[in-house]
Amino acid sequence: MELSVLERKLAREKARRQKAEQLLEDKSRELYLSYQTLQESHDKLGEAMQEVKSQQRQLVQSEKMASLGTMSAGVAHEINNPLAFIFSNVNSLAHAIEQFGKYHQLVTEMVSADASDSRDQNAAELLKYIADADLDYLFEDCGDLISETSDGIQRVKNIVAGLQAFARSDTGQMEDLDVIESLTNTLKLANNQIKFTMKVVEDFQPIPQVSGFPGKLSQVFLNLIVNASQAMEEGELIIATRDLGDTVSISFTDNGSGMTEETVDSVFTPFFTTKPVGKGTGLGLSISHGIVAEHNGEISVTSEVGVGTCFTVVLPVNSQLQQAA
Ligand SMILES: Nc1ncnc2c1ncn2[C@@H]1O[C@H](COP(=O)(O)OP(=O)(O)O)[C@@H](O)[C@H]1O
Ligand SMILES: [Mg+2]
Repeated sequence: MELSVLERKLAREKARRQKAEQLLEDKSRELYLSYQTLQESHDKLGEAMQEVKSQQRQLVQSEKMASLGTMSAGVAHEINNPLAFIFSNVNSLAHAIEQFGKYHQLVTEMVSADASDSRDQNAAELLKYIADADLDYLFEDCGDLISETSDGIQRVKNIVAGLQAFARSDTGQMEDLDVIESLTNTLKLANNQIKFTMKVVEDFQPIPQVSGFPGKLSQVFLNLIVNASQAMEEGELIIATRDLGDTVSISFTDNGSGMTEETVDSVFTPFFTTKPVGKGTGLGLSISHGIVAEHNGEISVTSEVGVGTCFTVVLPVNSQLQQAA
């Protein structure tokens, strides 16, 4: 009697244990399956992330290509213009050389003539030729043609240099750089271009060194200085350097024409210009923006029509130098 009770109890216990074991097995299978699903989702997520990253790279690339595309139309125009007058000047110079050739021939005939009669006759012919061909004017014109042509070549050179600076993002190594020295050198470069329109006030307070590409930063400064001088007939540009601790600021405040709000909104857009063809390419500020970004800095602008404009460049201080000090 007692035994059978025990046996039944045991059987019940066994059944319960089997059920529990079954449950455990089911649960662990379930767990295994969900682990697998999780693993799969994780792999898929990884793939998706790779995809997003590669699309992001493509986007950056295509944006660069797009701006290069927009740029090439303007650049073609900017280069064609000087090329057209370089071409016509070269033709005029060829014509002048022909005239001088004739002159040279007449002079040679004159000096090699034996009889003084024919020498006199040749001299009269020569004088007539000089007057008819207007050689005096031609001489003068040749000088103008040559200086105009080299100006045109310089313009093409500048455009190509600007384009190279825009297309190139990270060439060479950054250097420890003295901003005030760079500003002083740039002002020397710009002097010829700006001296008739603008007085420059150098409000230079001592600032720590930054690390950067000297040529590129000088290009930024040159752009800002030339833009200021082009915005006025007669005025003043104050260039101020300030130590802000972790950063330095370089501000360019002019009392030129100033800008409307719409112009301010577009100044950093490639090819935005309010200047006549030949004077502005609209590349200066967009390239400057790129260069400052490359230096982990910022460029900003405030402006008021009829009052003037202030561009401010903020650059991080060379942190290694700062730590060493
Ligand atoms: N200091 C300034 N004062 C007034 N307008 C300015 C100044 N700097 C830039 N701008 C405006 O921004 C435009 C774009 O400048 P930029 O990119 O240097 O091209 P560009 O000088 O060839 O026109 C100029 O055409 C002008 O309208
Ligand atoms: Mg400019």
